[in-house]
Amino acid sequence: MVSLMSLARRWGAGVAWLAAVAMLGIGTSTRADEAPTYHRDILPILQKNCQECHHPGQVAPFSLLDYTQARKRADDIAAVTEQRIMPPWHASTAEGGPFRGVRVLAEKEIKVLADWAEAGAPEGNPKDAPPPRTWHSEWALGPPDLVLKVAEPFTLGASGPDEYRVFAIPSGLTQGHWIAAVDFKPGNPRVVHHILAAYDVSGTARKLDAADSGPGYASSGGGYGRLPNGLPFLPAGQLWGWAPGRRPFWSPEGTARALPAGADVLLQVHYHKSGKPETDASTIGLYFARGPVDKQIRSGVVLPPRPSLFGRPELRIPPGEPRHEVKGAMTIRQDSHLLGVFPHMHLLGRDFRLTAVRPDGSRQTLIRVDDWDFNWQTLYEFEKAVALPKGTRIEMVAHFDNSPGNLHNPSRPPIEVRWGEETTDEMCIGFLHLTRDSEHLNNRPPTAPRRLFTARRGAAALEEEPGDHPDRGQK
Ligand code: HEC
Repeated sequence: MVSLMSLARRWGAGVAWLAAVAMLGIGTSTRADEAPTYHRDILPILQKNCQECHHPGQVAPFSLLDYTQARKRADDIAAVTEQRIMPPWHASTAEGGPFRGVRVLAEKEIKVLADWAEAGAPEGNPKDAPPPRTWHSEWALGPPDLVLKVAEPFTLGASGPDEYRVFAIPSGLTQGHWIAAVDFKPGNPRVVHHILAAYDVSGTARKLDAADSGPGYASSGGGYGRLPNGLPFLPAGQLWGWAPGRRPFWSPEGTARALPAGADVLLQVHYHKSGKPETDASTIGLYFARGPVDKQIRSGVVLPPRPSLFGRPELRIPPGEPRHEVKGAMTIRQDSHLLGVFPHMHLLGRDFRLTAVRPDGSRQTLIRVDDWDFNWQTLYEFEKAVALPKGTRIEMVAHFDNSPGNLHNPSRPPIEVRWGEETTDEMCIGFLHLTRDSEHLNNRPPTAPRRLFTARRGAAALEEEPGDHPDRGQK
């Protein structure tokens, strides 16, 4: 029980404290003074999380470099960060990962942005501002060992649907190299939405390029084009990709991707039109492994079930269906480590999840995407490679929204959608980047992958599970 005396003592203490504070002139500030200010509180958040895209010449439609620009959009900034639309990052932070280069604001940063907008976006004292962040055109990992640029600029029309174009660039390498990192310089970030890099050793991409007028050749839905018989062309191997805001990473020590002698490097560029004609010639920088390479990074895929070994995955999304479930699974055949995952769906995709179910029954969510966005396709690289013992099942569960309520639905009214390469078809793929524990390359240089699949079997190559074949099968 609280006695009157002790209450009095507490009040007394409180009064004394208030008096002391008043005399020192602190703690009695008005609401406006307490509010965050642009220079002290907001600019550091924008520098760290937003400006890399929100500066001139980058993908974002406006800059967030100075007070005027930020004040004008204070309410929008509060809204898009509160809804976690910005900065763009689609993997859940509650489950899966953790991933490298994660772009997620802390709760308290979101609150500061909201409080600032609510207080009328006060500027504060420029003396509180951190030094401006600058952007340079240098390579973040230092000068690459090999820089390859699209030879002739491609001209993109002013308006219309997105375009995909593949450029084949001869590497000129007379011996195979292990690639431990790549970086990209999109020639024109206003229109380059993302880039995927791969390599070809069959000369197919050169032929497709020669058959198409203009630099490079057209491809649809993000693929690498079609063979004369209509089947998709699948390059021999992958070399990572670029999306706005991507930072280059070195692959984990002792791991690398192969680039065989004589390979052509392919850049598959997804263009988003800007309203006026634009030109682009993008560049890739390749970094050779700095130390000995023991394990090759390989690609694996998780797909929905197929009616036959060489058939296309079974996928039929009924019109009007707002939550059509698609499942798939694959089994890891040798002890492996998973370095990264790349979920892939088209416009009707809603959510996506990959779970590892180990032979001991333990389950681990690898990635969960709750709000799929076709425009932000990214490779998610784990901070620490995930062990997948032999017999682990990788389970995929995704949902598709083929209702008229889906703003991204390309068909009005909705129609039945099946598996296919066009953006208006659908796909549901979990690409995996893996290494095999038993592999010991002892730094042997890479050789050209065996050509196990012919043009006729091209479509079947997607089905190949990692383990027995050279790196391939990723679209
Ligand atoms: C990886 C690049 C990237 C980063 C990082 C990024 N933005 Fe954006 N932002 C964009 C793009 C691109 C758009 C245009 C809309 C779109 O395509 O989604 C955009 C649009 C916006 C919009 C307008 C949204 C609308 O609906 O009109 C606001 C506001 C915004 N960003 C604020 C921010 C803030 C605040 C941050 C940092 C906390 C941030 N952005 C970080 C790329 C980025």
